[in-house]
Amino acid sequence: MTQSLDLLSLRSVSKSYGPVPVLHDIDLSIRDGEFLTVLGPSGSGKTTVLRLIGGLETVTSGEIHLDGRDISRMPINRRPFNTVFQDYALFPHMTVAANVGYGLSVRRRPRAEIKRRTDEALDLVQLGSFSDRFPAQLSGGQRQRVALARALICQPRLILLDEPLAALDLELRRRMQEFLKSIQREIKTTFLFVTHDQEEAIGMADRICVMQAGRIRQLGTPHELYYKPSCEFVARFFGDNNLVPGTLGAIDGDYRAIDTAFGRLLCAMNGQQNLRSAAAGTQAFAVFRPEALGTVNEKDSGNALCGNVKELVFAGSSTVAHIDAGDQRLRMRLASLAEGSIYSQGERVKLTFSPRDSHLVLS
Ligand SMILES: Nc1ncnc2c1ncn2[C@@H]1O[C@H](COP(=O)(O)OP(=O)(O)OP(=O)(O)O)[C@@H](O)[C@H]1O
Ligand SMILES: [Mg+2]
Repeated sequence: MTQSLDLLSLRSVSKSYGPVPVLHDIDLSIRDGEFLTVLGPSGSGKTTVLRLIGGLETVTSGEIHLDGRDISRMPINRRPFNTVFQDYALFPHMTVAANVGYGLSVRRRPRAEIKRRTDEALDLVQLGSFSDRFPAQLSGGQRQRVALARALICQPRLILLDEPLAALDLELRRRMQEFLKSIQREIKTTFLFVTHDQEEAIGMADRICVMQAGRIRQLGTPHELYYKPSCEFVARFFGDNNLVPGTLGAIDGDYRAIDTAFGRLLCAMNGQQNLRSAAAGTQAFAVFRPEALGTVNEKDSGNALCGNVKELVFAGSSTVAHIDAGDQRLRMRLASLAEGSIYSQGERVKLTFSPRDSHLVLS
């Protein structure tokens, strides 16, 4: 018998609104205690996934299992989950304490228990002294923490967070990211966190599920998605990869040749079976990060790319050189120097990258 640590799993879940399909055949397992982030552009179906799990919508087909049991038709109030929305949805006429304790009041818990657990939840989000205030008397970050305390108080198995930090300014957002992560570590509850901000996803998640147009494109650790994207969409969506189109050539151990406008390049397959089995001549992309590019020196005999420096963009500790090469534009990250860049605008440069620091995806 296989032992599963999955808390929740979506099995072949599809969802249509009327005739319009918005989720296609979603398979997703959420492990007990993990911080899983759903990342994707607007309209990709992130909120719909959350609403199906939370019970605000029902699946068109497929099943949702909790601890191995189908809960697809379980009513919302019986699901051991709690949702925190982007707009917090606090009751404006209730105090902070009443907002936080609300879930226990409707369950008719004894007053003393409600008071004790409300105090505990408010302490956890560091708002112990704010219990008598009203939402209008709080900052955005404080309101968000009240919403979190209200979600935590019923000790849900899973907390669903739909872009909970979107309304906060950048600085507060960063602090709340750290705060959420530390709370999650402390209480060891499973978090499913939706965002369209890849930096936020990378910083917080144990695993990230990337969605596009109602489909899961890749599920993996931030590190895997960053260095080993499995398709063009993820390679483009994640950070600032260079993608150079070409056709696949011969396999050489863990590497494969790709013929591009720059000539033949050798790139790592990084264990992707679909690249190993693709026929020669298949359309693909050579993928490499701006920091993987370097200047060619005499001894280099490997991947070579020529171009002209179009623009130099200073970004503090690094400077990004935009290099035009035919109809391609490459980005190269250089260390910033006090005296400016090692390159000047318009200069012709010959660049290289190590096959080890590269990747391939199919078109
Ligand atoms: N109640 C509804 N009726 C019809 N279509 C809907 C409904 N809710 C969502 N959709 C459609 O489903 C698709 C997915 O929407 P969803 O809200 O899940 O996207 P999202 O990834 O959360 O986007 P965003 O980042 O903008 O919040 C969209 O095309 C949307 O227009
Ligand atoms: Mg949404």
